Amino acid sequence: MLTAALIIAALASTVIARPSKNHLENTFTIEDEAKEVHSEALKRLLEVFGMEAPPHMHGLQKQPPQYMLDLYNTVADVDGVTKDPDLLEGNTVRSFFDKLHSEQIQFMFNLSNVARTEKVLTAELHLFKLRPLASLSFNRHHFCQISVYQLLESKQGNASQGKKLLASRLLPVHSSGWEVFSITQAVRSWMADEGSNLGLLVTVRTLGGSHMDSKLIRFASGRNHHQSKQPMLVLFTDDGRRAASLKNTLKDSSDTPAPPSLPLAPKPLGGQRSARSLDYEDDQQMPCQRLPLYVDFEEIGWSGWIVSPRGYNAYHCKGSCPFPLGQNMRPTNHATVQSIINALKLTKGIETPCCVPDKLFSINLLYFDDDENVVLKQYDDMVAGSCGCH
Ligand SMILES: *[C@@H]1O[C@H](CO)[C@@H](O)[C@H](O)[C@H]1NC(C)=O
Ligand SMILES: *[C@@H]1O[C@H](CO)[C@@H](O)[C@H](O)[C@H]1NC(C)=O
Repeated sequence: MLTAALIIAALASTVIARPSKNHLENTFTIEDEAKEVHSEALKRLLEVFGMEAPPHMHGLQKQPPQYMLDLYNTVADVDGVTKDPDLLEGNTVRSFFDKLHSEQIQFMFNLSNVARTEKVLTAELHLFKLRPLASLSFNRHHFCQISVYQLLESKQGNASQGKKLLASRLLPVHSSGWEVFSITQAVRSWMADEGSNLGLLVTVRTLGGSHMDSKLIRFASGRNHHQSKQPMLVLFTDDGRRAASLKNTLKDSSDTPAPPSLPLAPKPLGGQRSARSLDYEDDQQMPCQRLPLYVDFEEIGWSGWIVSPRGYNAYHCKGSCPFPLGQNMRPTNHATVQSIINALKLTKGIETPCCVPDKLFSINLLYFDDDENVVLKQYDDMVAGSCGCH
């Protein structure tokens, strides 16, 4: 009793007697280390979202195209979780605005921000057709032929510019609304050779093939019509990024890459050890279960470039996996055997199984890229759907 009291007194005195200079140095390095962990953690988090640096926002955030907002709401619920994994063919949808703002119905989309490794699945030109001006509404034509051409480099010694027909369609003269033309082949050729991107040309002709009054058939332009009706290129691509899904890991455990580990929780420093071991004892009493873990993009400092969601619930798995493991613990056979060996104490150093996610869902992000184009991207394995003892 007395010796214990002496030891405690001795420990206390060494703590008090610690020189203050040393103490200051310690806090400095701890702060430094915390800062380093913080920036490293954010870098790794960006990597999870497939980026090297956060997109640079020039000034105020623009209004994202309605088409992209509608698409996001179709594929994702309010938390960004994918409603139906089969809705999108690839994992990325990119929108681009016309850079030319030409008087003619001519467009140019800058695709230099798209990685060469991204596979183009479908590319669409979205044009908003306006109603004819009232003064011209009496007209003998009821239909017009709209054709979309890819502009090609003019051949040597040939003044007229070459062009290749991509899509053509008959439209009622008095119609109004969005028209979508498939231009996948042209975009694939631009992706293969950026220099060959000379843009697109749209022509309007009568059924007889003669030119039509440009006041009669009008498309909204980026120049003098509302932003929401701007001509747009929509690109459906796949970046080939697929996290090792849990099913695959079980099927072929040979060469599946380890999921990215986030160093979000820095290793506890000396002083926190006792608090942590208390925590640990709590875990022991609580059976393995799924608990909330809200990832707030505003807190992380990303709300400037992420349109939706504001954050999402990733959930986390916590709790013990003691013997006997019931079916509600969703144990693998391996976990069941391990918990039995642990309970029987047949082999030294065998712990109880771990409480981990056993089903993961993907989330969707709607964001502005470096060029202020709006991108919708799907990320696999982001939300713990359920937890189990493994
Ligand atoms: C496309 O955008 C990049 C920057 O994002 C720029 O360097 C390049 O000059 C642009 N290309 C054209 C043809 O405007
Ligand atoms: C120029 O190109 C047009 C169509 O691209 C073609 O019909 C014409 O024969 C060409 N002329 C010459 C001199 O190559």
